[in-house]
Amino acid sequence: MKLAVLGAGAIGVKHLEAASEIEGLEPVAVVEINESLAAETAKKYGVRGYTDYQEMLQKEKPDIAVIALPHFLHKEVSIRCADYGSHILLEKPMALNTVECDEIIAAAERNEVKLMVGHTQHYFPENIEVRRIIESGELGKLVMINDTRNVNYYRADRPGWFFEKSKAGGGIMTNLGAHSIDKIQWMTQSRVTKVKASVSFHEKRGDVEGSGIMYMETSSGVPAVITQSGYPGVSRNETEFIFTKGMLKLETGKGLSISRNGMYEPVLLKPAEQPLVQQLLDFMDAITNDTWLDCSGAYSKTVVSVIESVYASSETGIEQIVK
Ligand SMILES: NC(=O)c1ccc[n+]([C@@H]2O[C@H](COP(=O)([O-])OP(=O)(O)OC[C@H]3O[C@@H](n4cnc5c(N)ncnc54)[C@H](O)[C@@H]3O)[C@@H](O)[C@H]2O)c1
Repeated sequence: MKLAVLGAGAIGVKHLEAASEIEGLEPVAVVEINESLAAETAKKYGVRGYTDYQEMLQKEKPDIAVIALPHFLHKEVSIRCADYGSHILLEKPMALNTVECDEIIAAAERNEVKLMVGHTQHYFPENIEVRRIIESGELGKLVMINDTRNVNYYRADRPGWFFEKSKAGGGIMTNLGAHSIDKIQWMTQSRVTKVKASVSFHEKRGDVEGSGIMYMETSSGVPAVITQSGYPGVSRNETEFIFTKGMLKLETGKGLSISRNGMYEPVLLKPAEQPLVQQLLDFMDAITNDTWLDCSGAYSKTVVSVIESVYASSETGIEQIVK
């Protein structure tokens, strides 16, 4: 299968790296509006470089288009890729809002192409183990989840579009909140049903929130709190799961600890493929064998729907029922 990556930013090049490790997959092109970055990336990965994605689609007709572009371009570019017959691996969050999600889903269906959204949380071995432990019941019943993310969101090298609401959709709660919401829904095999949230603006850069807190109810009956802050301080990416017979502390990308008696001990994890490699392998399998996709358009729209509810709740001060 021929693959093209659209956007040679932070994650786009990682998709190129992942694709070049997979047998049966041939990265052929990269599209990047920044001409020198397009040329440099094309040379580094041995692919053809383009600055215009429509020209690339016409000339290359890739089987798979990996869309790693700013959020405001997700809808337009996904629809064009679908119209050209390319299967779409679209980065998270799926789009700026649920109306755009519906348009992307319709374009994929109309053109009979597969659509997958890059919710990478499903591919970290420590995350997979949490899901297994919850399902097994070995720590008893899951009671609640507490997810905390502190990160220097305002670091100087973060591209400017992340701070413009019209281009990013929102700030930290959109960008990193998408991961936390997805993680909680996927691990509890449920959907967020209600949200009460408050987002806050304490930085001068841009017009998006730099912090926020949300309380969520899920269809599994397990409530969760997500706290995110983008100010300098101690970085944290921790999700704590409280069960009736113990606790789990997840640090995605780092590892997992388990407690049955008041102490945390590390959990030994099975070796796994690099998440972006496994994501592409799953997508290829779905294209070839028509297998079911965990991160389908319909599923990924639910994450965008929760994000919409976060802002609606913050603006109105009222708990939102997630549509
Ligand atoms: N799954 C993950 O863990 C993960 C991690 C990082 C980013 N992301 C997502 O990936 C997407 C991209 O994020 P990023 O951090 O790589 O952003 P980025 O700004 O680093 O990269 C985007 C690139 O797209 C280019 N671009 C902009 N407009 C273009 C156009 N019209 N045609 C061609 N190129 C264009 C920019 O010049 C830039 O190089 C976002 O949806 C983001 O949320 C996902």
